[in-house]
Amino acid sequence: MPVRPWLLAATLLVIPYSLRSQTTILTNNLMPEPSSLTAGDGAFPLTSSLTVGLSGTRSPRLDAAVLRTLKRLEDKTGQPLPRSLGTAATGALTLSVAADPPVQTIDEDESYTLTVTASAITIKAPTTTGALHALETLLQLVQPAQPSGSAYILPAVTITDSPRFRWRGLMIDCGRHFEPLDVLKRNLDAMAAVKLNVFHWHLTEDQGFRIESRLYPKLTALGSDGLFYTQDDARELVRYARDRGIRVIPEFEMPGHSAAWLVAYPELASGTVPTGIRREFGISDFAIDPTREETYTFLRKFLTEMSTLFPDQYIHIGGDEAPAPDWKRNPKILDFMRKHDLKDNDALQAYFNTRVLKILTSLHRRMVGWDEIFNPALPKDVVVQSWRGEASLAKGAQQGYQGVLSAPYYLDAMKPAGVHYLADPVPAGTTLTPEQQKLILGGEITMWAEQLDARSIDSRIWPRSAAIAERFWSPQSITNTDDLYRRLDPVSLELDTLGLHHISAEAAGLRDLAGPSHASLTDQAALGNFAEAFEPVSFHDRYEEQHTSQLTPLTSFVDAVRPDPPIRHRLELAARTFLADPHGSSAQVIAARQQLTAFFQSVGNAVPEVRQQMLASPRLQAIQPRIDQLPALTLAGIEATLYLSSNAPASTGWKARNLALLEAAKKPGAIVRFTFLEPLTDLINATPEAK
Ligand code: ACM
Repeated sequence: MPVRPWLLAATLLVIPYSLRSQTTILTNNLMPEPSSLTAGDGAFPLTSSLTVGLSGTRSPRLDAAVLRTLKRLEDKTGQPLPRSLGTAATGALTLSVAADPPVQTIDEDESYTLTVTASAITIKAPTTTGALHALETLLQLVQPAQPSGSAYILPAVTITDSPRFRWRGLMIDCGRHFEPLDVLKRNLDAMAAVKLNVFHWHLTEDQGFRIESRLYPKLTALGSDGLFYTQDDARELVRYARDRGIRVIPEFEMPGHSAAWLVAYPELASGTVPTGIRREFGISDFAIDPTREETYTFLRKFLTEMSTLFPDQYIHIGGDEAPAPDWKRNPKILDFMRKHDLKDNDALQAYFNTRVLKILTSLHRRMVGWDEIFNPALPKDVVVQSWRGEASLAKGAQQGYQGVLSAPYYLDAMKPAGVHYLADPVPAGTTLTPEQQKLILGGEITMWAEQLDARSIDSRIWPRSAAIAERFWSPQSITNTDDLYRRLDPVSLELDTLGLHHISAEAAGLRDLAGPSHASLTDQAALGNFAEAFEPVSFHDRYEEQHTSQLTPLTSFVDAVRPDPPIRHRLELAARTFLADPHGSSAQVIAARQQLTAFFQSVGNAVPEVRQQMLASPRLQAIQPRIDQLPALTLAGIEATLYLSSNAPASTGWKARNLALLEAAKKPGAIVRFTFLEPLTDLINATPEAK
């Protein structure tokens, strides 16, 4: 058969998401993937003569965003860039924006087009928000000229983009642990970088009331340990978010999760009154009394005050987990329920929600709440945030309610990015009708804060949330997790450059654990290599082992290591590649084998050094049970790789012995789990054994 070079070329071109053009190769590191991308010929060279022009609707926040983009471009390319913004006629980079609505709503048109040719970069957007998204895409396109070159370029491309879902949120719980404003701001920067558009600010919890009320100052005076956001802080954060195309939805939890309200104003309680800020986590018995008119007077004044700080159309009232045992035993409440024909706690909570909704409506606000607010008595414009799962979300939609999915996006489950990524707010096989599907507004990531603080929060959120952001934004058909992880690395580095601590906090935490007598670079490298073998266990597993409370110091080994570290998927990929052809000699197979062996060796070799460091660090000694397991596990990895590559069988009983080690390694210990058990299991199972 004759060689058909065009077919060969076509095969080479099918490298996923890498598009070849005549003079440049677009390395597609975009996240989220745009809805439409066409690679062009050539590239726009990024030089210090770049000029910028704006037309249409100008706004201070657009100007500021363009200047921030120029600064980031300057940093990426090492080229000084002019900081003057001219008119469309004079710019090589031009932005044309049609409108800048004063308050971003759920109906905002976030679309944009971005065209790059050898001579021009053109952004067109119906709103400033769309233009902000375009600028983030532009920054992700910057790459070195290829195949070789001394400059940076933007590859020629035409992108037409708009989000799949209108509501793409991240909730941060600032109640259990307070997060300083700077931490929230850098998380907003990261959200903007991956086009998330709702910051859900969980401001009140049993463990803390975090927003200043001038009408009810005891809320923070008695309910916050002095850790709260002033009204100026809140305004500043709302402004910061708006500048980045992000809505801020505040959450004030009621009637449950309300111990901090009741510490300050016990007269709101249903009977049981907290004696102080609640330090333990979990569902509490405290609840606001829905039967007293004073409750609604208080809430009306409080919510009116809050509505002056938060311009968003929506206010979140929590509503979850309110067992409220007092409602079943307080004679006054029982009497009220009888008089109003309220048959149980759910009915009483529905009554409460209806009253709160009236207040919100009078403030021109809409209500969001967790699953538990769902009740046919409520009007259809409330939004139900589903933490109980897809079925619960679907049930709401079938009855005409709008919903936002959160259940599969609980970051404290410590699942890999690839698992969260495949959970879809409207999965391909949905039984919802097209009309019902439209009621699913999108999804929201939740970052509950029982087991994190300002040092560890970034690594719990990022980069996994970038993967989920893609699920919310990009076409449903984009589901290749290997390609997700390929793009997650550059996104993660970009977020690190933006100021997030999700990568750097690990080394800082480990240095702190090892202590000053082991501060040398060699010691740090050993502990760093060792730490690659671990990630935190889930919220639930940690709670089982530790009974974490608000007073638990979060400075253990588990707090330093990060969930789903890059090595986890790399090892999985290497094991897959290697096991497809274990004694093969292709470059990929050899590289995969070497990667596996190198990992097991570097972790195994670190063990004696880390044992030394443990002698000087009592806090590090908690990992004793795990460190004792590592030598045999890493040896199993090295041996399996050797047996497989040489096609020499292991001795009889080798497999059973090592599978038993794996079983032991899966049991709880030191509140961390191993990052490599899946690929190691595959390697051991594949190893041939003498009969
Ligand atoms: C929740 O996780 N209780 C909303």
